[in-house]
Amino acid sequence: MAVREIIQIGHPVLRTPARTVKPTELASFPMQQLIDDLIDTMRNAGGAGIAATQVGEPVRICTIEVDNNVRYPYKPPIALTVLVNPEIEYLGDDTFPLNEGCLSVPLRGDIRRHLRIRVSALDRSGTEVLREVAGLSAGTFQHEVDHLNGVLFIDRVEDSRTLATWPEFERHAREVFVAEITEFVKRIGS
Ligand code: NI
Repeated sequence: MAVREIIQIGHPVLRTPARTVKPTELASFPMQQLIDDLIDTMRNAGGAGIAATQVGEPVRICTIEVDNNVRYPYKPPIALTVLVNPEIEYLGDDTFPLNEGCLSVPLRGDIRRHLRIRVSALDRSGTEVLREVAGLSAGTFQHEVDHLNGVLFIDRVEDSRTLATWPEFERHAREVFVAEITEFVKRIGS
């Protein structure tokens, strides 16, 4: 297990659609080690999730975990989740506004995510998982699967004037956003 370097925006691997992982390959030592490294790297950086492309491995694997997250304290908890070859299906057209950040981008910005989704994937042992997710948690899943398609949250920012560094976000936007999103989480329950 090891904390890996997190690739930053500008590196082409972040823009490369990741390839599907074969079930036999998933069981291999290097692939299982990559999953352990992703978990360590995500936890070490205080991220809510991380995709393999962010450590320079263009394979369709990402991890998600939210537990009193330091970067996003308003996010409801998500137990440690490993997704291999994830696919997202939107359940309806409803979207909601949120402000996102990313371990590979030194900015935050306002975007919209689908409110309700169904995620199908394999877990790290190769077992099929099917899960419906709503609200902020659904946003986290969409963010990570975007990475595997070479998409960054800034591609979804409609108004570039909402882009802010973390310190400037803290200074000027955090209070209003956190009040709004906390109400939203209460209403949606996730
Ligand atoms: Ni990200």
